[in-house]
Amino acid sequence: MKGKFIVFEGIDGSGKTTQINQLSEWLIGTDLIPENNQLVITREPGGTKLGKHIRSLLLNTSIEKSPDPITELLLYAADRSQHVNEIIIPTINKGDWVISDRFCGSTLAYQGYGRKLDINLIKNLETIATQGIYPDVTFLLDIPVEESIKRRINRKDDRIEKEGKEFLSNVALGFKTLSKDRKWKKISAINSKEKILSEIQSEIKQLIKNK
Ligand code: TMP
Repeated sequence: MKGKFIVFEGIDGSGKTTQINQLSEWLIGTDLIPENNQLVITREPGGTKLGKHIRSLLLNTSIEKSPDPITELLLYAADRSQHVNEIIIPTINKGDWVISDRFCGSTLAYQGYGRKLDINLIKNLETIATQGIYPDVTFLLDIPVEESIKRRINRKDDRIEKEGKEFLSNVALGFKTLSKDRKWKKISAINSKEKILSEIQSEIKQLIKNK
């Protein structure tokens, strides 16, 4: 049996790392993942060795000239193609579970709604890069843009995070629109860690029940 593919999305500072850690601790302690199968935590960009190089090209702030928007889009697609081939497909084919910090939704939100690149172009590239793989569930950790800015005040911004409030608001709108899909679940991430986890847990239990 194939493993499950779970994705977390959200604007910067939405608490994806905390939630992924909490969820994986909980999952490992349950019998939801079949015996002899594992849980693999990964991320985009940078989930593979090659992807780590691509991540640094994409997010480095000391780079002399930023990539143009199409180059940026292609670099995210290249990172995803390698990630899908090397990690995601082999892992779920073994029956193991994958939790990925970001996936295609980020490209639609950041490069589509943020950079205003053509959504159909992004979707075509997505089909190539993902080979048709789609997450079983995508959790959108939803926080107001002001909260994202506040939470990151003492943190060094990467090249994308430096884009400012208007860009981030467009990205947030993109995520909200994407989260209307039935395979997405929008969760208010300004609630307590425990409340957020419990919403995620019930969604995962539902996912197993409906398999
Ligand atoms: P992270 O800080 O959550 O690891 O994400 C890296 C940055 O890359 C974040 O600012 C969002 C951005 N990003 C895109 O612009 N497009 C994408 O397709 C992905 C996966 C991330």
